[in-house]
Amino acid sequence: MKFTLNQQEVEIQGVSPETPLLYVLRNDMQLNGPKFGCGLGECGACAVLIDGKVARSCSVPVSVVQGMKVTTLEGLSQDATQAEHARVARDWEAAHPAAVPGMPAGKPAADAPVKAVYRLHPVQQAFIDEQAAQCGYCTNGMVMALVALFDHKPTATDEEVTQALSGHLCRCGTHVEIMRAAARARVLIAQGGAA
Ligand code: FES
Ligand code: FES
Repeated sequence: MKFTLNQQEVEIQGVSPETPLLYVLRNDMQLNGPKFGCGLGECGACAVLIDGKVARSCSVPVSVVQGMKVTTLEGLSQDATQAEHARVARDWEAAHPAAVPGMPAGKPAADAPVKAVYRLHPVQQAFIDEQAAQCGYCTNGMVMALVALFDHKPTATDEEVTQALSGHLCRCGTHVEIMRAAARARVLIAQGGAA
């Protein structure tokens, strides 16, 4: 069984065709963006994009995506350019002078600023900017639903946002911040991407 996962062709073997796509993504592909919430297609936590449309991966047998394009939360951000990587390395070295004068400071540590190394999707950036999460369990679904909406209609209104998110449950009551993040994402997209 072959499909495209986050811009890369993948082949799955030894998995029953009835296996929910969510299980394959989390267990076989080690992607933990999509979450297991209800497992019944009712909460939206497991959302992914299939050929650009938002879908609940807990309720999609993996055989359905044969030959299709699946995008998870992990596939939304892009690797930064080499120039950006070089800038991050320079910034890190400037902030961490060499212990021995004249010796290189070394490579960025594991805690180097990830945000600077990856170019986030405007919707992801907006969620961070607006701190639109409490426990964060619903965030994957909210982000994927908004990406699908804005990809289709970058100028989607608040009403259309509400409609797109209506089937996505947030038990923490973060709705106000999520709506603010959606409004911010609309601005970032209009400006041509994340700030
Ligand atoms: S886990 Fe898929 S909709 Fe709830
Ligand atoms: S479910 Fe906790 S932030 Fe939405």
